[in-house]
Amino acid sequence: MSFSPYVRDPDPAGSGAPYYRPRRLRRTPALRRLTAETRVSPANLVQPLFLREGLTEPREISSMPGVFQHTRDTLRKAAAQAVDNGVGALMLFGIPEHKDPRGTGAVDPDGILQTALRDVVAEVGDSTVVIGDINLDEYTDHGHTGVLDPSGDVDNDASIELYAQAAVVQADAGAEVVAPSGMMDGQVRRIRRALDEAGHQSVAILGYSAKYASHFYGPFRDAVESSLRGDRKGYQQVPGNIRESLREVELDVAEGADMVMVKPALAYLDIVRLITDHVHVPVAAYQVSGEYSMVEAAAAKGWIDRDEVVRESLAAIHRAGATQIITYWASEFAPTLDR
Ligand code: PBG
Repeated sequence: MSFSPYVRDPDPAGSGAPYYRPRRLRRTPALRRLTAETRVSPANLVQPLFLREGLTEPREISSMPGVFQHTRDTLRKAAAQAVDNGVGALMLFGIPEHKDPRGTGAVDPDGILQTALRDVVAEVGDSTVVIGDINLDEYTDHGHTGVLDPSGDVDNDASIELYAQAAVVQADAGAEVVAPSGMMDGQVRRIRRALDEAGHQSVAILGYSAKYASHFYGPFRDAVESSLRGDRKGYQQVPGNIRESLREVELDVAEGADMVMVKPALAYLDIVRLITDHVHVPVAAYQVSGEYSMVEAAAAKGWIDRDEVVRESLAAIHRAGATQIITYWASEFAPTLDR
């Protein structure tokens, strides 16, 4: 530890009373506001939204109180509300009524996510950024993020062919950014080629680049009615590893990712900082379902101050270096941030 030459007690033999007083700048709300180093803007927040095929009423996700599977009608309303509240982007997920081994719904031009994208783009126009999640796990009856080979392993190269098709139908439906979240090798390059060949050169790719095999995704599996048995450890990253995040991010950028993501957020802030210092594309962090549910559950018991904890966690993620924060609190909290 080296000390700054400017922070030296000018009179070590003096009265003993402190001369430098950092507390001076913390004394009032106005001073704290003036000297704040981290300020999360509504524009930095990304709101995930779920459209569930075949619903007539929105359905609250039991493990994520306050988060809903939407009908087409309530999805449009939630999207419009989020835009009114100032969020920077919407990230859409679809939950199909029927699942099958190949996740056909993900590549169907009229699949549920493509419907969601068309509806939301029609509703909000270009007032915000609309992002589509590319994956098969919501659409496969086995719940894996790709198709399986005869031995039951996820077949990497066959799966990225389907991701490429999904990217094109999402872009056709109006997605400006597509976000492959399956952790298949080569997915970004394959998607970039497919988008370019389909005339979607200007559709951007947000890579879920450093995505850990995390148990913080638990409630999301309820949200999308995942039928996964087993786990994703064969393709998502080992929680204790650091270097492979650098490798994944370097590969994604080389393959054409316009932005990269670290996921989850709070337990991986060292990775957010590392990646931010390492690459020159925007870095997003995903404050995932379990992070949301833990705070909501503790707050429901009166154990923590919900609103303050949410704002503190957003500031921490931003401080670690993430520019975009994907969070289920985006729409609600955007209007409460000091601009
Ligand atoms: C994959 C996907 C997942 C999440 C976002 N996209 C689930 C997974 O990889 O298991 C998790 C998000 C969250 O937990 O909030 N479609």
